[in-house]
Amino acid sequence: MSIAIYPVTPNFTAEIGDIDLRQPLADEVFEEIRQAFWKYAVLVFPGQDLTLDQHLAFSARFGPVENERTLDPKATPTRYGGAFADISNLDAQGKIWGESSRQRMYKLGNKLWHTDSSFKRLPSLCSLLYSRSIAPIGGHTYFADQRAAYDALPDEMKQKLQGLVAEHCIAHSRQRNGFSEFNEDEKKRLPPVPQMLVRTLPQNGRKSLFVASHAGRVFGMPDAEGRALIDSLIAHATQPQFTYVHRWRSNELIMWDNRCTLHRGGDYDDLRWVRDMQRVTISDVANSCEQEGVAVAA
Ligand code: OGA
Ligand code: MN
Repeated sequence: MSIAIYPVTPNFTAEIGDIDLRQPLADEVFEEIRQAFWKYAVLVFPGQDLTLDQHLAFSARFGPVENERTLDPKATPTRYGGAFADISNLDAQGKIWGESSRQRMYKLGNKLWHTDSSFKRLPSLCSLLYSRSIAPIGGHTYFADQRAAYDALPDEMKQKLQGLVAEHCIAHSRQRNGFSEFNEDEKKRLPPVPQMLVRTLPQNGRKSLFVASHAGRVFGMPDAEGRALIDSLIAHATQPQFTYVHRWRSNELIMWDNRCTLHRGGDYDDLRWVRDMQRVTISDVANSCEQEGVAVAA
């Protein structure tokens, strides 16, 4: 073992030390990180001083990098395009965003419990978020372990969820916060997609809930009933015993498994303090229904 692993809880979230992510890592070292990642689902790498290229190079070892941003860059320009999601409160010129800017209204959705890109047919394996500068107070990120949440469900609920498929759409989570100004280009690129409510992680066979504020209804159920089921599962999965709150340091990289964790951004005074972060998102190998062998319409 060449890296240092410091668990935050026995099975969820670990800090990783004795590693320099600026360098290309030897295969054995990378494998140690992968194994820790399957076990803990959230990894924190403090004290890394990364350029954009170094952040991208490390991230790309986990799989294909998502290259398309959700918002139309013409309607909402940000500092980065392509591989990087700008997770800051800065506009394209690097100034604190306007109170009623489209970027700010859209990002309100990050305050809801979600998992990145479950609204894409090919969802995400993991996200890697890097902090350049942080707010002096507030701006924490909350994580919830959906594997532990699944394990704790009563058997009858596990039976009920077996094989159920939910519809995920970015419009669902944004509607919850009152953002509905998607343009035609965005609507066309982001149609609703099916995802399993429960999935199995191939690396260790663990089962996990797969819900998010992007999920709007459950196939085969009246809309209101499906929505109520999703809301109750999110409420269950985000109880304190399944969650970890991260207080950021600057120059820190955090990666989380989008297949089996939820996260949300906490409040801070975003019109006063700069909070500058960038995210790379890695695609999963297939849609969650395909991975479970459940047939869904194209
Ligand atoms: C994200 C996200 C929350 C935060 O980067 O995907 O939801 O605390 N971030 O910035
Ligand atoms: Mn997110």
